[in-house]
Amino acid sequence: MSQDTTLLRQVYGYANRANPYPLWAKLRQTPVCWQEDGAEEAGTYVVSTYREIVALLHDPRLSSDLRNSTQTGGRTRAPNAPYTFISLDPPEHDRLRRLAMRHFGPPERPAYIEQLRPEISRIASSLLDQLQGQRQIDFVDDFAYPLPVAVICRILGVPEEDEPRFHQWVKAIVESTALPAEVQRRQREQASNQLHRYMAELIERHRRQPGADLLSRMAPDTGPEGRMADPYLVATATLLLVAGHETTVNLLANGMLTLSRHPAVLARLRSAPDLIPAAVEEMLRYEPPVQLLPNRTTLGEIPLADTTIPRGVVVTLALAAGNRDPTRFQEPDRFNPERRDNAHLGFGSGIHYCFGGPLARAEAQIAFAELVRRLEQPSLVVDPPPYRPSPVLRGPEHLRIAVERVRAAEEPPARRSVSRSRYAS
Ligand code: HEM
Repeated sequence: MSQDTTLLRQVYGYANRANPYPLWAKLRQTPVCWQEDGAEEAGTYVVSTYREIVALLHDPRLSSDLRNSTQTGGRTRAPNAPYTFISLDPPEHDRLRRLAMRHFGPPERPAYIEQLRPEISRIASSLLDQLQGQRQIDFVDDFAYPLPVAVICRILGVPEEDEPRFHQWVKAIVESTALPAEVQRRQREQASNQLHRYMAELIERHRRQPGADLLSRMAPDTGPEGRMADPYLVATATLLLVAGHETTVNLLANGMLTLSRHPAVLARLRSAPDLIPAAVEEMLRYEPPVQLLPNRTTLGEIPLADTTIPRGVVVTLALAAGNRDPTRFQEPDRFNPERRDNAHLGFGSGIHYCFGGPLARAEAQIAFAELVRRLEQPSLVVDPPPYRPSPVLRGPEHLRIAVERVRAAEEPPARRSVSRSRYAS
C-alpha cells in the first residue's frame, strides 16, 4: 500500500477531520491491520474492532511505555521531563496513579467530585449569563474551553490569569501530533519544558503558602505509600492540567455539534432532562474526544484476530472505530441517547482508564443541563465547523451557533413559558 493512501494516513489527514468514520469503518474490515501512520515513518498495527481493543487494553503484554518500542526512536518524552503514569506500566504506573488518586476520588475522597458540582454549575451559569443578548456565539471560545479550564485551575490551584501563558504551551503539545516526527519532537520538547518549569514554580509557591487545592495537598503528602518525588509531582500536575481541559473541551463541543445536528434529540432532552447523563455517554461513544491511543507497544508476540502482532512494535488502538463497531452496538452510526448497553471506549478501559472520567462526566452533565435549558433554538452557522489540527484529541476549533436568545438563569424552562402563545395571550 502506498504511503499516501493508507487508511490511517487518511485519518491523520486534515481533510478527513470532520468525518473520519467512513475510514474507521474500512479499517474495521481488517480488525488488526498494519498501516503506515500519519506521524511515524515506521508504521503501526491499528486495532479497530471493539472486542480486540478491549482485549488489548487488558493485556499486560501491551505496554504504555514507548521506551519498550524498538521502532519509535523519538516519540517519547522531552529529555528532562519524567514520565507520568499515563505512559508507564505497572508497578510504577499503579503506585503513582494511587498517589495522585488519593486526593481526587475514591477510596480516600469518594465525595470529592460530587462536592465540586455546585461550583461547576456556578461557572457554567455565569458563562451563559455573559452571553445574554447575543444572537451568535462561538461555542468553543465562549463556553466549551473556558468551563473546563476554570474548573481544572480551581481544582489544582492554578491561577486563572496564567491561562494565556500555559494555553500556548498546551496547544503546541497537543497540536504536535499532527506534525512530522522531527518537528513534532522539537515542538513538544520545547513546550513541555516550559510547562514543566511553570508547574515546578507553582508547586513551590503552594508549598510556601498552601491552600485548599490539589497541588497544596499533593506536594507535602507522605501517605501510606510514601511521597511522590518532585519530578513526578511536576509531571503529574502538568498531565492533569493538560488532560483536564484539552479533552473536555472536545466533549462539550462535539456534543453541542451533535445536538445541533439532531434538533429532535435536543427537544427531547429539554423535556426530559433526566436523559442528559445518558446523552453524555452517547456523545462519548458517537464522537469520542480521544479518537485513538497511539502510544502502545508490544512486550511480546500477541496473536489477535487472524494476525500475530510481533514484539516491539507500536500499536494504535482506534477507540472511535471500536465505538461504532456494528458487532457490538446496534445501529452504531445513529446518535441515540436512549441506547441501552452503552459500554463505550470514550475513557479507555483497563488500568489506564481515565482518571478524570467522573470529573468530565460531571462537567458535561451540568453543562448540557444548562445549555439545553438556556439556549433557545440553537442552530449551526457553519457545518461542518473548522476542526483543531489534532487527529487524536479531535474536536472543533470554533463552533459558531446562532440562537434565538440566551435565557436568563432564573427563567423557567422554554417549553413552559416561551414564545408565541405566551406573547399572543
Ligand atoms: C471528556 C473528557 C475526557 C476524555 C474523553 C478522556 C479520555 C481518556 C482516555 C481515553 C484515557 C486512556 C488513555 C490510555 O489508555 O492511554 C484517559 C486517561 C487519563 N485521563 Fe482522561 N479523559 C477526559 C478527561 C480527563 C480529565 C478531566 C482528567 C483530569 C482531571 C483526565 C485525566 C486523565 C489521566 C491522568 C489519565 C491517565 C490514567 C492512567 O494512565 O492511569 N482526563 N483519559
